[in-house]
Amino acid sequence: MTRFYPLTVAAVQQLTRDTVAVSFAVPPALASAFAYREGQHLTLRALIGGEDVRRSYSICSAVQDGALRVAIKRTPGGVFSTWANEHLRPGAVIDVMPPMGHFNVALAPDQARHYLAFAAGSGITPILSIITTALLTEPRSRFTLIYGNRASSSVIFRDELADLKDQFMARFTLAYVMSREQQDIELFNGRIDREKCSQLLRHWVDLADVDVAFICGPESMTHAVVEALQAAGMPKTNIKIELFAASIPQHRPKPRQVHQAGAAMPDQTEVTVVMDGARASFTMERDKESILDAGLRAGIDMRYSCKGGVCATCRCKLVEGKVDMDANYALEDYEVARGFILGCQSFPVTDRVVIDFDQAE
Ligand SMILES: Cc1cc2nc3c(=O)[nH]c(=O)nc-3n(C[C@H](O)[C@H](O)[C@H](O)COP(=O)(O)OP(=O)(O)OC[C@H]3O[C@@H](n4cnc5c(N)ncnc54)[C@H](O)[C@@H]3O)c2cc1C
Ligand code: FES
Repeated sequence: MTRFYPLTVAAVQQLTRDTVAVSFAVPPALASAFAYREGQHLTLRALIGGEDVRRSYSICSAVQDGALRVAIKRTPGGVFSTWANEHLRPGAVIDVMPPMGHFNVALAPDQARHYLAFAAGSGITPILSIITTALLTEPRSRFTLIYGNRASSSVIFRDELADLKDQFMARFTLAYVMSREQQDIELFNGRIDREKCSQLLRHWVDLADVDVAFICGPESMTHAVVEALQAAGMPKTNIKIELFAASIPQHRPKPRQVHQAGAAMPDQTEVTVVMDGARASFTMERDKESILDAGLRAGIDMRYSCKGGVCATCRCKLVEGKVDMDANYALEDYEVARGFILGCQSFPVTDRVVIDFDQAE
């Protein structure tokens, strides 16, 4: 699970001016490694300007499609997304880590649920996978999507969503909220902020009828929607979130917090990493760098992508010792309670720490 596999790009499709969909060919020998659930993401790795650059991209295809496909939107000034939009072509070979992530809920054919999703921009990618998979798996369930964009020209997967509406006319409801294009119904004009979300919940969606809500978009929108949903009575446990980026810029180290008073001295920690059934140990200085950075420097091929506490690629279980964790935009409360940590955000505070990448639950 921790390693990258070279996959051939089978197709590249221009979805909008600044977004490409990239499909990968998965050889039969890797089919089980690349089996995925709706809402999961892949970590892609490329050498760009001589640097190892890795980023996460959500799978947009339904589980039933079996096609491994992601959509990459160009971020202005962004290293990987610009490279992918300009250089990825069919036949190219790129390193891909098997699917990861928990942005989904258990589906069952006998369930009759109403799911609600809020997406903005490229946040539609995992949501499209979740909607299609849910409607195909649960013939009695319904899905409502509220999808924020600047204007029609920037809507990713417009055709795919229109096809879904045709296919599931009675079970799929879609509303576009446009910030720079005037639509006939005033409720659907503007940005998806707290007020807009509350208005939609008052006039357009009956939250009492909704079982689970999914949100994927910028951090500010995500927080606003969570607040509005909770204010309208939805329990936090029924809200699933996927963040693509934090407002604190990634890839840059944050100043360390002063760790807990009374922590053990001396300031060296022996860290043992369990990964793919093997154990490796190294010694690191506390408060200087994260466990992930120290492990990589010691030559251990620990998995990571964003290094910003967002993607959870570095998720592992703390089985011995204690750590301070800085940013966490990826783990849910129940995962933290079970001892999961983000290696890229964790700093040891005890003499010995053991982390295990093989424990998934
Ligand atoms: C779980 C997950 C799933 C995701 N799924 C998708 C998806 O389906 N589709 C998608 O398009 N994206 C997705 N993302 C986002 C994706 O991983 C990348 O973060 C995104 O493509 C930007 O990467 P980049 O290399 O192009 O930009 P980066 O080079 O990482 O830059 C990001 C931004 O930071 C700015 N920046 C970079 N360095 C500095 C600096 N030193 N100082 C100031 N500013 C700086 C850049 O100008 C840019 O605006 C996902 C992320 C996560 C965590
Ligand atoms: S590498 Fe993304 S959360 Fe740690």
